[in-house]
Amino acid sequence: MNSHRFEPAGPVRGQYVPPADKSISHRAALFGAMTDQPVYIHNYLKSADTTSTLEALLSLGAGVDESGGQLTVRGVGLRAALEATGGVIDVGNSGTLLRLLPGWLAGQAGGRWSLDGDESIGRRPVDRVVEPLRRMGAQVQARDDRFTPLVVSGTELEGIHYEMPVPSAQVKSCVLIAGMLASGRTSITEGTMSRDHTERMMRHARVPFERDGLTGTVSQVDELELEEIYVPGDPSSAAFMAAAACLVPHSKLVISDVGLNWTRTGFYRIAQRMGAVIVGELEEPGTFSDEEPVGDLDVAAGPLEGTEVLPEEIPLAIDELTLVALLGAFAEGDTVVRGAAELRHKESDRITATVGGLRGLGADIEELEDGFVVHGTGEPLRGGTIDSLGDHRLAMLGAVAGLASREGVEVVNMEAAAVSYPGFVDDLTALIAGS
Ligand code: S3P
Repeated sequence: MNSHRFEPAGPVRGQYVPPADKSISHRAALFGAMTDQPVYIHNYLKSADTTSTLEALLSLGAGVDESGGQLTVRGVGLRAALEATGGVIDVGNSGTLLRLLPGWLAGQAGGRWSLDGDESIGRRPVDRVVEPLRRMGAQVQARDDRFTPLVVSGTELEGIHYEMPVPSAQVKSCVLIAGMLASGRTSITEGTMSRDHTERMMRHARVPFERDGLTGTVSQVDELELEEIYVPGDPSSAAFMAAAACLVPHSKLVISDVGLNWTRTGFYRIAQRMGAVIVGELEEPGTFSDEEPVGDLDVAAGPLEGTEVLPEEIPLAIDELTLVALLGAFAEGDTVVRGAAELRHKESDRITATVGGLRGLGADIEELEDGFVVHGTGEPLRGGTIDSLGDHRLAMLGAVAGLASREGVEVVNMEAAAVSYPGFVDDLTALIAGS
């Protein structure tokens, strides 16, 4: 296991293009495989998770060629005689692949697949997709009805209306993808909005999808009409560099070509409220469009104050809540995150891991059942050692904390970052060197 030390450094300066969006890359490849014409994907993310998706699709009979930074997916069509019947599909560390792919497989009459992944995947619940899929008539089995391996036997599906108990873009996407294959209409209502990339991609692929407030409805469709997909930069990956620029004095960073979809930029709005200087055209909350907005953000360091994160902001910043905790540790006053119990089901139990990790670096932070409270002093963290526990976002959290700390941070198992961001350390180093 490799550990990496991040000394206090900076300022963070320069222009930075983040890696491609992980969520959109997974969906682009999957939608490409469901199309029976070649689909050209520009800027597909190269990472462990998105490679798991390509491998899964290859094993199902899709073709994938890469040249000149462009990925061509030669799909098998929405209703296909998929290969690997009876085979095991390895999802690696990818929760998104584990939750989205069964939506497609469940409607492939005659096929049978078993999905499994690494040790962290074995702890992540799949009952959240099993339940709605069964209501659609799907044949799905899971270990203890809750965990991998998840066995899917394809069959005819029926449209349903589903009220989602927990806001989850993965579950919503699974149901909507199954809905394209199911008879009639399938609608899903969420309590509060989660990321909407699947819905936007459906519209882009001319699938009849309509949104009415928190309800999305898809009708059965014969085929997807998709030629090209451009994947913007990942606002979640960029958030680590943005947080570094917020925390290290005299930083000034320009983040270019980053996705600005409002369902992904909750962290940036929370940080702005804390006093961070983040300037750019974030998409207006509530917008629904066929497109993924892309643009630039200017970020500069400044004094921060604590904030309370609102329940409806949680899904919009779900992957960045660890960074909210970090900003909170440097801010003056309390930062409160509640209603985020979902964090316990991520690549690690991110509540316990964030609280334990930041406390080890000197933060005054309390664990709640569904979140945390950080008592900020307005002073930098001391530093120390943090274990990523194999969670990519904790590894990157530790690195940013190190840069902004007084004594530096040693991150144990830094290589976990490769799940979403293989070039993270190089990019961070370049931004410090650019100062
Ligand atoms: C994702 C949705 C989120 C997020 C995950 C990626 C997606 O999970 O945490 O990293 O691509 O749909 P949930 O929507 O299940 O919370």
